[in-house]
Amino acid sequence: QEQSPLHNKTFLITAGPTYEPIDPVRFIGNHSSGKMGMQIAKAALHLGAKVKLVLGPSAEFYEHTNLEILKVQTAQQMLDACLSIFNQVDVAIATAAVSDYRPAQVVDQKIKKKDETLTLELIKNPDILKTLGAKKTNQLLVGFALETQNEEENAIQKLSNKNLDFIVLNSMNNDGAGFQHNTNKITILADNYKKEFDLKTKSEVASDILTEILQRIA
Ligand code: PMT
Repeated sequence: QEQSPLHNKTFLITAGPTYEPIDPVRFIGNHSSGKMGMQIAKAALHLGAKVKLVLGPSAEFYEHTNLEILKVQTAQQMLDACLSIFNQVDVAIATAAVSDYRPAQVVDQKIKKKDETLTLELIKNPDILKTLGAKKTNQLLVGFALETQNEEENAIQKLSNKNLDFIVLNSMNNDGAGFQHNTNKITILADNYKKEFDLKTKSEVASDILTEILQRIA
């Protein structure tokens, strides 16, 4: 079907932040809104794909027959949700901003204000995308890289570390790019491959990423 080039494809998309609990009222999180991931989900649905969106705490919402939203809070929950569906998908795209660390202990009562300093011990979270990269069979795997320095170098390292087909770099140094904005400015990087795009709406950025995916799964 010409208008539905992805009609027999299933996408896994991670989006939003993760919240790592400290105590019953506090968490470690980040500024991800889930907008970038939701726009990619909509672009894939528009091309006929089925989408499983694994979404951290976010105000984003959308209803579509071919969209399933799996809501999660923590990185561990996001990993579990991804692992439960990874063998059913053709394409996986990780737009989520996952907390690299979580509190070593979750205190079960609200922590009281007491001393002048308070130390929290953090332990490493699983790397979701790297785990999927190690399990990949026929899936096309796409990652994002949000960088503040040595952007391309860091992104290319993530590309190979996580066994990705390509990586989408966005930099905190570009105005209107990254967290929360309705716009983004990306560079797509793969082995010996680089494509730079202008600042665009996240919806247009999503179409550019889908074009790249279509070329690679044609
Ligand atoms: O949600 P928005 O407000 O629209 O903002 C969009 C965005 C800025 C969050 C998005 O465009 C983006 O850049 N997402 C990746 C953010 C990030 O945390 O990048 P990273 O360079 O730390 O991680 C590299 C890749 O590994 C990412 O695909 C990330 O999803 C994945 N990862 C990272 C750590 C981890 N423990 N598990 C992962 O899967």
